[in-house]
Amino acid sequence: MKYKAFFLMHLKKLSVLNFKNYPETELQFSNRINCLTGNNGEGKTNILDAIHYLSFCKSFFNPIDSQNILHESPFFLIQGVFEGPDQEDDIYCGLKRNQKKQFKRNKKEYSRLADHIGLYPLVMISPADSELITEGSESRRKFIDSVIAQFDRDYLENLISYNKVLSQRNALLKQFSDSRQFDRTSLEIWDMQLIEYGKRVHLKRQDFINSFITIFQKYYELISGGREEVGMGYTSHLNDTSFADALEKALNRDRAMEYTTVGIHKDDLEFTINGYPLKKYASQGQQKSFLIALKLAQFDFIKNIKKVTPILLLDDIYDKLDDRRVKQLMELVSSDNFGQLFITDTHPTRLANLFLTTNADFKVFQITNGNALEVKTTEIEIKKIA
Ligand SMILES: Nc1ncnc2c1ncn2[C@@H]1O[C@H](COP(=O)(O)OP(=O)(O)OP(=O)(O)O)[C@@H](O)[C@H]1O
Ligand SMILES: [Mg+2]
Repeated sequence: MKYKAFFLMHLKKLSVLNFKNYPETELQFSNRINCLTGNNGEGKTNILDAIHYLSFCKSFFNPIDSQNILHESPFFLIQGVFEGPDQEDDIYCGLKRNQKKQFKRNKKEYSRLADHIGLYPLVMISPADSELITEGSESRRKFIDSVIAQFDRDYLENLISYNKVLSQRNALLKQFSDSRQFDRTSLEIWDMQLIEYGKRVHLKRQDFINSFITIFQKYYELISGGREEVGMGYTSHLNDTSFADALEKALNRDRAMEYTTVGIHKDDLEFTINGYPLKKYASQGQQKSFLIALKLAQFDFIKNIKKVTPILLLDDIYDKLDDRRVKQLMELVSSDNFGQLFITDTHPTRLANLFLTTNADFKVFQITNGNALEVKTTEIEIKKIA
């Protein structure tokens, strides 16, 4: 028997009813590469979002579930069949307007959605990732936290405790200011706990980023063909001072501002290209390559820790990437290190032509106005149309 180090689980079938612009559609997928082609606004990304629902119990884009029901319809239904080496799971997600979302695995309803998340790991690469570069530090901390939380349960607990203590400390600072009084001892009670939780989170972030950087740089090099060097630095008040000293130093400022100005809630990642800040000096395509490498490194991390190959969703990869980089990326994701992929493109045959040169199995679907049809095209026909 062939030894498989990684557990492969793929989405064999998807059916949707009244989901976004889809009245009713059923799709049978390849366990490797699935290309979703169609013009703007036809519903390619919506299919990716339905798949995202099956993994994370929610939309990647819209946190308000009811807005994902087809206009004027009373409900939506998303059903999927995941197939593994010796099991098949039926996943059901249904939402009626003004009612609670129903989520079932093999007909059994979950009482806590959190129990489902992680069973079918999935990584989405989307134009929305650009917020990691353009937005404030919170989005970057969220990225780090979401990756670490996948493999370290204590991490999330420490982080939650830290945030609770932080808001208590901030409330006390505000109270001091309102009452024009100051009581050092009562502040120290919070400081002690804040330091304890903060130190743990800091250490874990530091460890994680150290090993993550190497994987990230490897992917960037593969996509860019080694044309430029990228870096990622972890900035934290706790890097060169003890948290206790940092809090002590910041005390007057904290009292004036009425909140805690130092700590791991201010941590950030500094992205660089050839040693310069990415946001200011990288081209659009370089920024996009950077984000894709980040997400692929996340994929790699989850895969190695969970020993399950995640499903990879690639939305709009041609947007801003040149043909050479897309080709490098497609060669990379069609290698055996990857499992099932879903890729969108507005061009009907561009992706198919790329995959014809690799040996990976692929299917092409034509998406038109909320309807998806598999394109049964032979190698020759695809080449002819192109
Ligand atoms: N709740 C809803 N009911 C009906 N239609 C919806 C709903 N939500 C979104 N849509 C429609 O879905 C369409 C967008 O689909 P989607 O984002 O999947 O397009 P796309 O094929 O990915 O396009 P692009 O190439 O521009 O990315 C839009 O026409 C939008 O109006
Ligand atoms: Mg789209």
